Amino acid sequence: MVIKTGQLFKIILFCVLTFKAGGLHTTTNVATKVKGVAGVWYTPDIMNCSIDINSYNLDLSGITSLVFEIKRCGRAHVILSSSDVRNSSEPLFGISIGYKTYKTFITYRADDSLDSESRNYVSFLNPNILNCTVYQTFWVSWSDGDIKLGTGNVVGENI
Ligand SMILES: *[C@@H]1O[C@H](CO)[C@@H](O)[C@H](O)[C@H]1NC(C)=O
Ligand SMILES: *[C@@H]1O[C@H](CO)[C@@H](O)[C@H](O)[C@H]1NC(C)=O
Ligand SMILES: *[C@@H]1O[C@H](CO)[C@@H](O)[C@H](O)[C@H]1NC(C)=O
Repeated sequence: MVIKTGQLFKIILFCVLTFKAGGLHTTTNVATKVKGVAGVWYTPDIMNCSIDINSYNLDLSGITSLVFEIKRCGRAHVILSSSDVRNSSEPLFGISIGYKTYKTFITYRADDSLDSESRNYVSFLNPNILNCTVYQTFWVSWSDGDIKLGTGNVVGENI
């Protein structure tokens, strides 16, 4: 599934999840094989660590939001990439949910240089947003270039 948006972002999720988009509800289990830790802030070739939800044969062209569920003890990551070929050098947004159980980061990076001018982030306090045993529902939207994240299955609510 390539998610073609106004901004040409493709969405990449990693973790165990179910996701819904465009009225379609798909359940799949995905898990990444990452040695050590990985994150868009400090892993240049971060796309290698991701699972492309494009590979689930869904046509989500034109959508600008996605509802998904995460069951996870540690951090979960969502990447919105501008690359169709998983090129880590292309601009991307990384959403890191549940860092140290209390923080969420939305990071933009222009390329894979990790230079300080090429990346920045905002962070939000939201303790215990994930649960190891119970799926939690989230949405992400990217219309008009505004990256938003919220909880629940109503896009735009609980940002
Ligand atoms: C990441 O993927 C690229 C392209 O396939 C490859 O050139 C590179 O060696 C990979 N890096 C790692 C750490 O696997
Ligand atoms: C990845 O993107 C960079 C920057 O746009 C480009 O120079 C490079 O050729 C691309 N690599 C691939 C494999 O598409
Ligand atoms: C996860 O959810 C279960 C069931 O609602 C609850 O008992 C447990 O305390 C939760 N764990 C955390 C870390 O919030």
